[in-house]
Amino acid sequence: MTKTIGLICGSLRKNSFNRIIAQSLTDMYDSVQFRWIEIKDLPLFNEDLEVGGDPEPVTSFKSAIQEVDGIIIVSPEYNSGISGALKNALDWASRPPKSSVLSKKPVGLIGATPGGLGTAFSQMQTRQILEAMQVHILPFQKVLISQVHEKVDSEQKVLTDEKTKRYLQRYLQQFIYWIDHTPILD
Ligand SMILES: Cc1cc2nc3c(=O)[nH]c(=O)nc-3n(C[C@H](O)[C@H](O)[C@H](O)COP(=O)(O)O)c2cc1C
Repeated sequence: MTKTIGLICGSLRKNSFNRIIAQSLTDMYDSVQFRWIEIKDLPLFNEDLEVGGDPEPVTSFKSAIQEVDGIIIVSPEYNSGISGALKNALDWASRPPKSSVLSKKPVGLIGATPGGLGTAFSQMQTRQILEAMQVHILPFQKVLISQVHEKVDSEQKVLTDEKTKRYLQRYLQQFIYWIDHTPILD
């Protein structure tokens, strides 16, 4: 059966480099479908908002997560850490803790920055957060894209760097394999 991979971009910026990178994944394999899972309409997490049931944007967000076979998060780093928008989305998705839609979901992490360290710090934090939610994060493989502004055509909003394309293609192949081979631990 055709797999569906959800794409979450941790940047809300219209011309986000990370969104361009995420978009580039969508035409790499005919055998998988991609679905954007948007986070911009989620309210700031507040336990009081859960009392009468999740607000509508949260319900849609959680359903979207439930409907995909795996998720690839493509996110920037802010001040050596995770983007606030992404952390907020993950907090919503983590609830309720015993039956979170993210629990045991295969997840891959990619990050891009015009800087030199490829979002290494934010990815470390994101891994730590996802592990707390018992997410099945693709182990070992990291995609840290530095100097991203030299690797994309910002006008056309496309990834142009061939080496990065090949790297992403390999990563995607591994992620597809990971979806079928996540550990069965309870
Ligand atoms: C508040 C703020 C903090 C930032 N901190 C970092 C950082 O710690 N490391 C880094 O590589 N880039 C940092 N940047 C630069 C971002 O990588 C850059 O703005 C990037 O284009 C954001 O991703 P996007 O293009 O997907 O929106 C920061 C940018 C902002 C606005």
